[in-house]
Amino acid sequence: MLSWSPLANFFWDLQCKIYFLLVGICSALKLTVPSHTIHGIEGQRLRLSVDYNFNTTASEIQIIWLFERPQSNPKYLLGSVNQTVVPDLEYQHKFTLIPPNASLIINPLHISDEGNYIVKVNIRRNGTIAASQKIQVAVDVPVAKPIVRTEPSSGVVEYVGNITLKCTVGKGTRVVYQWMKNGKPLHASPNYTFSSNNATLLIVPAVKEDTGNYSCLVSNPVSAMESEIIAPIIYYGPYGLRVKSDKGVNIGTVFTVDMGEVILFDCSADSNPPNTYLWIQRGDNTTHVIKYGPHLEVVSDKVTQKTMDYMCCAFNNVTGKQDETHFTVIVTSVGLEKLAQKGKSLSSLAVITGISLFLILAMAFFFIWKRYQPYKVIQQKLQSRPEADYRKAQTFSGHESALDDFGIYEFVAIPDPASSSRVSSHSVPGSDFVPGQDMLSTIYEVIEHVPEQPQQDHQQ
Ligand SMILES: *[C@@H]1O[C@H](CO)[C@@H](O)[C@H](O)[C@H]1NC(C)=O
Ligand SMILES: *[C@@H]1O[C@H](CO)[C@@H](O)[C@H](O)[C@H]1NC(C)=O
Ligand SMILES: *[C@@H]1O[C@H](CO)[C@@H](O)[C@H](O)[C@H]1NC(C)=O
Ligand SMILES: *[C@@H]1O[C@H](CO)[C@@H](O)[C@H](O)[C@H]1NC(C)=O
Ligand SMILES: *[C@@H]1O[C@H](CO)[C@@H](O)[C@H](O)[C@H]1NC(C)=O
Ligand SMILES: *[C@@H]1O[C@H](CO)[C@@H](O)[C@H](O)[C@H]1NC(C)=O
Ligand SMILES: *[C@@H]1O[C@H](CO)[C@@H](O)[C@H](O)[C@H]1NC(C)=O
Ligand SMILES: *[C@@H]1O[C@H](CO)[C@@H](O)[C@H](O)[C@H]1NC(C)=O
Ligand SMILES: *[C@@H]1O[C@H](CO)[C@@H](O)[C@H](O)[C@H]1NC(C)=O
Ligand SMILES: *[C@@H]1O[C@H](CO)[C@@H](O)[C@H](O)[C@H]1NC(C)=O
Repeated sequence: MLSWSPLANFFWDLQCKIYFLLVGICSALKLTVPSHTIHGIEGQRLRLSVDYNFNTTASEIQIIWLFERPQSNPKYLLGSVNQTVVPDLEYQHKFTLIPPNASLIINPLHISDEGNYIVKVNIRRNGTIAASQKIQVAVDVPVAKPIVRTEPSSGVVEYVGNITLKCTVGKGTRVVYQWMKNGKPLHASPNYTFSSNNATLLIVPAVKEDTGNYSCLVSNPVSAMESEIIAPIIYYGPYGLRVKSDKGVNIGTVFTVDMGEVILFDCSADSNPPNTYLWIQRGDNTTHVIKYGPHLEVVSDKVTQKTMDYMCCAFNNVTGKQDETHFTVIVTSVGLEKLAQKGKSLSSLAVITGISLFLILAMAFFFIWKRYQPYKVIQQKLQSRPEADYRKAQTFSGHESALDDFGIYEFVAIPDPASSSRVSSHSVPGSDFVPGQDMLSTIYEVIEHVPEQPQQDHQQ
């Protein structure tokens, strides 16, 4: 404090007085114990620690230990004056005191030693100052490893049977039972009930979710032990039946496979014990078992129909329950081919559209150009055209003279979305095209543009 006000002065004074009072009382004789309750282990040595101090010069130090049980009179155990110990002869080999150290050693500790221990220290100068403390001692026998038994041990069918788990422990006092499932403490619930001491767990009714690793944890203040894990057998299922395949396109319960493929089906359902699986093939009016076991191999070459109906049945022979699932296998010869072709035809359409556009543009350009230099262009074109071109044109057109067909052709592509077949490249319809085949999807309208005047001029 930097400044001294009258009020601060007053409090400082008061503080000094209180401090003196407290220290004065405490300094007379201070007797302390680390803990007022001590848990001892039967058969072992136990020390009851006591600490005391005083700042007077003592002419005599006296230490006395007493023992009291509930509802009985205190008993004298031993005492000391200065360095001399005076034991009760009845207990002289059991208790040890080494003055001036006031701690008491009990060796060995028995169940009968349980109770309250009272220590009293007297210091004599010209008067006598005294202090005492009480320590409560509990004696426990460590627990042995518990054993869990299930009833019935053979297992139960879910929703039908009940399970009883009993925890027994060979040794131990003040045993507390705690049930664990998969390492986590288990609490009472409508389906789980405990006996009054928690040593027995009752599962009514047992369901699939009760499957797990159970253990019993026993403990007392001086020890804890856990039993081995026990997994009660609960029969359930089949649940979640489904069919999977390694190959093929699967949409819902329809599997599409290509001709020639070998497809493997897997039938699985959650069940205890494992299911018995059965594969059934269904015809129009008939059904027949084709295989037992969880796997089925279908060789698509060998199937007689394009569409086959199958069924997988799972049967649990303990719960007596069964489940079945239907699925269809469609064998296609062109299925995937078609898909690939669709992609191709789409790209060729794009190419043709591109060419058509180019031609239209070229034509437009040509018209513009022709308007300025019409004669020269035609003449040049005709001169540069080789003989073979004329012959080719003749065979395509079916006309006598290729010159009659001379002109500009505009290709207009009209795609037919319904058909996914290949595009025909014939420029002249009806020449050697066979309708009815799945080939034609694009119709080409050929528009002839004959530049009338210049052609006439040339022919003359
Ligand atoms: C004991 O100690 C306190 C302070 O620690 C002191 O005030 C007191 O006078 C002492 N008593 C004796 C007898 O020395
Ligand atoms: C205890 O010891 C003190 C000196 O430390 C002595 O004066 C006193 O007589 C002794 N008392 C007994 C009973 O031996
Ligand atoms: C009393 O004796 C024990 C050993 O037996 C020792 O640990 C403890 O510190 C002693 N207490 C005093 C106050 O000397
Ligand atoms: C008690 O002892 C103290 C010294 O420790 C002494 O001064 C005082 O006179 C004694 N009192 C009596 C009543 O003997
Ligand atoms: C299971 O417990 C219920 C209720 O206590 C009882 O009604 C049922 O009979 C028991 N089942 C078996 C198989 O013991
Ligand atoms: C139960 O214990 C077994 C073996 O001790 C272990 O393989 C399994 O994973 C455990 N189950 C659970 C749910 O902890
Ligand atoms: C408790 O039992 C009921 C049937 O009585 C069952 O439907 C339910 O799933 C069970 N709950 C648990 C957590 O086991
Ligand atoms: C039994 O266990 C429950 C917790 O699962 C606990 O609250 C209860 O005190 C225990 N009863 C006994 C007698 O140990
Ligand atoms: C039940 O099925 C299991 C496995 O599928 C088999 O091992 C067992 O022999 C069957 N039990 C009976 C009684 O059919
Ligand atoms: C299926 O049965 C119906 C009558 O139940 C019959 O008319 C039909 O011909 C049968 N089909 C085959 C393929 O056997």
